[in-house]
Amino acid sequence: MQNNRVLNLIKSKVSLAPMAGITDYVLRSMVRKYSPNCLLTTEMISSEFLAQVKETEIIKRDENHSPISYQISGHKPHLMNSAAKFLNNYADMIDINMGCPVNKVVKGQDGCALMRNPSLAAELVKAVKDGTDKPVSVKFRLGYTFDEMNYVEFGQKMQEAGAEFITIHGRTRSQFYSGSADWKLIKELKRNVDVPVFANGDITSIDTAIQCLEESEADGVAIGRGILGDPTLIYRIEHYLAVGEKLEPPTLSEKIEMLKCHLDEEISLRGINIGIKFVRKFYPYYIAGIKNAAKIRSVLVVEENYDKIIEILNSLNENKKNTGLALL
Ligand SMILES: Cc1cc2nc3c(=O)[nH]c(=O)nc-3n(C[C@H](O)[C@H](O)[C@H](O)COP(=O)(O)O)c2cc1C
Repeated sequence: MQNNRVLNLIKSKVSLAPMAGITDYVLRSMVRKYSPNCLLTTEMISSEFLAQVKETEIIKRDENHSPISYQISGHKPHLMNSAAKFLNNYADMIDINMGCPVNKVVKGQDGCALMRNPSLAAELVKAVKDGTDKPVSVKFRLGYTFDEMNYVEFGQKMQEAGAEFITIHGRTRSQFYSGSADWKLIKELKRNVDVPVFANGDITSIDTAIQCLEESEADGVAIGRGILGDPTLIYRIEHYLAVGEKLEPPTLSEKIEMLKCHLDEEISLRGINIGIKFVRKFYPYYIAGIKNAAKIRSVLVVEENYDKIIEILNSLNENKKNTGLALL
């Protein structure tokens, strides 16, 4: 790994993977609360959308969010260039989505469809580079299908086009999220490019992060779903890598406090009605493992009254034992 510009920016071996509808301003702020250095990433922002709308809560950031990468999606070089120009004032790095498997996205030639069109993908990297003085990175998968695993050549081509950092999800597009991420295959990419490579997929604990780093030989790991219900995970992995100590995950009591904070912050960002609705998707993760979780969740996801939600959460929060993480 020789790329000093990116290495100076990314001081941590763990990053937050982009997740549409999940890694919004609030969740990025929560992850940052615990991890001062990890690379944060926005959810993907459509370059078509940005061309029409310049004011959107998706791009909101705080001073302490650096280093932060803004991820854009699209397949039209001029729109990707404009998106990069616009985001240049916000971003420390601009990432291009080349891995999204969703039908609507790949039908539009965006996301993982770009892995079938490496020339266009390379053109996009160049167009984005022309629009920003920040490093440009790419995120992709192993390939479109098992028979089209072109991730090594694809990564090389993106590097040649000017990409300075790669995040790779160890699945193909055809897998969507099924099966498991193949971390061992990532090693082939790492050995064949010079830019830093972060491995991604199914890292949900300190142990899986260690295993992934060993198997992939990657420079770091990107964590997506693992932070659902536990915004401390990135910090705990970083802490282990720095000092060799495995911190316990937050207790239920701490998770409930984190959930209340998540709810309050989403309400501040989006207003009470939308904020309450937005947080519904997070309940199962924060209360997982609790007795009668399914029943409680089914009540929470329809409750519209803030005071009642807090009352239910407080009633769950009887176990006061904690690890101290929530107080950091
Ligand atoms: C709800 C959801 C939304 C996602 N949105 C994006 C996205 O906007 N951009 C992107 O590159 N990947 C996106 N991903 C993929 C993740 O970044 C990540 O590659 C994938 O979830 C595997 O990593 P994980 O097992 O750590 O979650 C999304 C995944 C999920 C579950």
